[in-house]
Amino acid sequence: MRTLTDLAERARRTLDPVHWDYFAGGAGEERTLLANTASFERRRIVPRVLRSTGSRDLRTALPGALSATPVLIAPTAFHRLAHPDGESGTARAAAGTGTVLTVSMAATEPVERIAEAGGPLWFQFYPQPDRAFTAHVVRRAEKAGCRALVLTADSPVLGRRERDQRNRFHDLPAGLACENMRDETGRVQPIAMDGTLGWEIVTWLRGVTGLPILVKGVLHPADATAAVEAGVDGLIVSNHGGRQLDGAVATIDALPAVVRAVGRRVPVLLDGGVRRGADVLVALALGADAVLVGRPVLWGLAAGGAAGVRDVLDLLRADLDHVLALAGARTPADLDPSMVVSAGC
Ligand code: FNR
Ligand code: LAC
Repeated sequence: MRTLTDLAERARRTLDPVHWDYFAGGAGEERTLLANTASFERRRIVPRVLRSTGSRDLRTALPGALSATPVLIAPTAFHRLAHPDGESGTARAAAGTGTVLTVSMAATEPVERIAEAGGPLWFQFYPQPDRAFTAHVVRRAEKAGCRALVLTADSPVLGRRERDQRNRFHDLPAGLACENMRDETGRVQPIAMDGTLGWEIVTWLRGVTGLPILVKGVLHPADATAAVEAGVDGLIVSNHGGRQLDGAVATIDALPAVVRAVGRRVPVLLDGGVRRGADVLVALALGADAVLVGRPVLWGLAAGGAAGVRDVLDLLRADLDHVLALAGARTPADLDPSMVVSAGC
C-alpha cells in the first residue's frame, strides 16, 4: 500500500537536493514547520458509535465552487521545478477528482493553460506595489475562469529560508518563469512583497473584480474579525507551511479562537501539516469548513507527475472517508469539537 510518506521519500530521491530543500523547508529553525504536524499528532479523536454512517458524503460548498471533498490544494510555487507535468499536471489530477486547485501567482505555467484541465480553480496572489499591474494579473485569472481570489496576507517580507540561503537558491533555472507575472510587453516582473498593505486592500480588490475574496495567513482572532469586517468571503488559517514567521503558532492551535471570532459569518479554512484523514477530521471537528494541502501535492507531483498528484488526492480522500466512518460521522457536519481532545498536555 502506498502512503504519503512513501511518496515523500520517492520525491526526495527524485528531486535535486537544492529543489527538495526549497519545497520541504521552512523559515529559521523550522520550529513552526514541525509544530504544524506535531500539534495534529497530539490530537486524539473521541469517536461516536451507532450513528448510521452508511455511505459518506464529502461534498463541500465553498466560495465560488463545490469541492468533491473538504481537502483542497493550497497554492504552491514552481510546479515545473518538481516535474515537467507542472501546474497543468496538478490541474488534471485535481479536475479528475473534483478538487479545488489554488493556482499560485508563482506558477510556472500560464493560468489559461492550467485552466484547460477544466476543474475548479482559485487564484492566489500577492498584491504588488504596482496596483495597475496587480489588477491586470487578477483580471487575467478571472478571465481564465478562476472562481475565487486568495490574497496572501502573511508575507509583508519573505521569510528567512535558511536552507535556501545555504544552498544559494534564489532563482528559477533557465527556461522556467513565473508565467503569470508577464506584463503587457511580455516581460516577467519579479514578485514583490508589499509591506505597506492594510485592510483597505480588500476594498481596492472589490473595485477590480466581482470574484469572491479569501484572505490567507490569518492566525490571530482579532485579524479574523477585521477580515470579516473588511468584507472577505472566507479566510484561511495558515502560517504558510512554516515558511514565513518561524515561531508562529501551529495552525490547528490557532483555529478554535479564529472560529469563535468568525462565528460562522464566512467559511474558515486551514492549511499546514495536514497529512492524514485524521488530521482533516480534527480540523473539521474544531470548526474548519475545509483544509488545504501544500507539500503532499508537491511530493506526488515530483514522484509521479499528474498520476502522482492523483494518488495523493485519492489517498487523502479514501483515508478521510474511512476515518469519518470509524468516528461515527456520515458528513463533515456530523463532527463537533467534543470529538477531539489533546493528549499529553
Ligand atoms: C508555499 N505556500 C505558498 N503560499 C502562497 O500563498 N503562495 C505561494 O506561492 C506559496 N508557495 C509555496 C511554495 C512551497 C514550496 C510551499 C511548501 C508552500 C504555502 C502554501 O500555500 C501552504 O500555506 C502550505 O504549504 C501549507 O502547509 P503544508 O500542507 O505544506 O504543510
Ligand atoms: C514560497 C512563496 C513563493 O513560500 O510563497 O516559497
